[in-house]
Amino acid sequence: MTTGTTIILGIESSCDDTAVAVIRGNVILSNVVASQLIHSRYGGVIPEIASRNHQEMIWLTMQEALNQANVGMEQLNAIAVTKGPGLLGSLLVGVSFAKGLSLVTNKPLLGVHHMKAHILAHFIADANQIAPPFPFLCLTVSGGHTQIVLVKTPLEMEILGKTIDDAAGEAFDKAAKMLGLPYPGGPFIDKYGMLGNENKFVFSKPKINDLDFSFSGLKTSIKYQLEKWEREDSNFVKSNRNDLCASIQKTIVDILVDKCILAVKQTGIRDFALAGGVSANSKLRAQFVGKMDEINVKTYIPKFDYCTDNGAMIAMAGKFLFEHKIFENQELCAQAKLNF
Ligand code: KG4
Ligand code: ZN
Repeated sequence: MTTGTTIILGIESSCDDTAVAVIRGNVILSNVVASQLIHSRYGGVIPEIASRNHQEMIWLTMQEALNQANVGMEQLNAIAVTKGPGLLGSLLVGVSFAKGLSLVTNKPLLGVHHMKAHILAHFIADANQIAPPFPFLCLTVSGGHTQIVLVKTPLEMEILGKTIDDAAGEAFDKAAKMLGLPYPGGPFIDKYGMLGNENKFVFSKPKINDLDFSFSGLKTSIKYQLEKWEREDSNFVKSNRNDLCASIQKTIVDILVDKCILAVKQTGIRDFALAGGVSANSKLRAQFVGKMDEINVKTYIPKFDYCTDNGAMIAMAGKFLFEHKIFENQELCAQAKLNF
């Protein structure tokens, strides 16, 4: 693990969290997240509202991060920002802000890939997490992505499998919406699922080849079954909320963990990490660790603070770019879609 005294500011604005962090070496000095709760009332992120809120919050969030870290702007060695993938309007706010900051402070600019940053969060020095050795596998599960990634070095990553339709986080959120739970629904399914019987209801699992995933069939299966049960008993969802959450959660987690087992069989790699917002899910964390343990695979689970979107992971990924002198200039563009 690399340490040192390089100080980097990390700026994240790809979706609905305005987040800024300061890292020194691999140690996080501050990690400030301003979450936009307003989207909850619409049942999903409204891109226009998200970008306007980023505009309002980004300066204050940065100031708070610098204050908490007790670091002055002049002490920064570089400014790292998420360049994609994500919502274009949201990304534009962070990228434009970082470019302006780089221009006025004359500090180098680093452009970070959001999904790679989720993975690289494992290298933050923290008593609650251990960094995996290279090469390792990573199940990267967020609101927009579901991937099994072969991580060869901090900069070289290969996607071995990905979702062909919805992401795992989307499956959680859409199922939660059908159950009348607020957005984002993943954490609510987790909370109520802990109280329910996961074997009470059975939902269909997709048959997808190799290491790819699919969640849209599950979404349809949940929709039709709920409609049928509600026709028979209009109180059905309310009175079975915990068991429904537990059963849906079990189905999603089984799909994810089964593919992880297959990835180990195919690659022979025995170090497996979790990353992305859905890695905060308690059932996924427990089942992933348990099943990997059975086949003698070492697991790496991120600290909760570094699972959902945060600036710390952007600063950490920026540190690797800085070490390899991979800088951006004022031509840097936000990219809604961005390949690995
Ligand atoms: O990585 P992330 O914060 O943002 C994106 O890059 O998309 O992931 C957000 C996703 C949402 O779908 C949210 O419902 C899900 O992560 N999530 C969870 C949990 N916490 C967050 N899903 C299941 N259980 C959780 N505890
Ligand atoms: Zn994310």
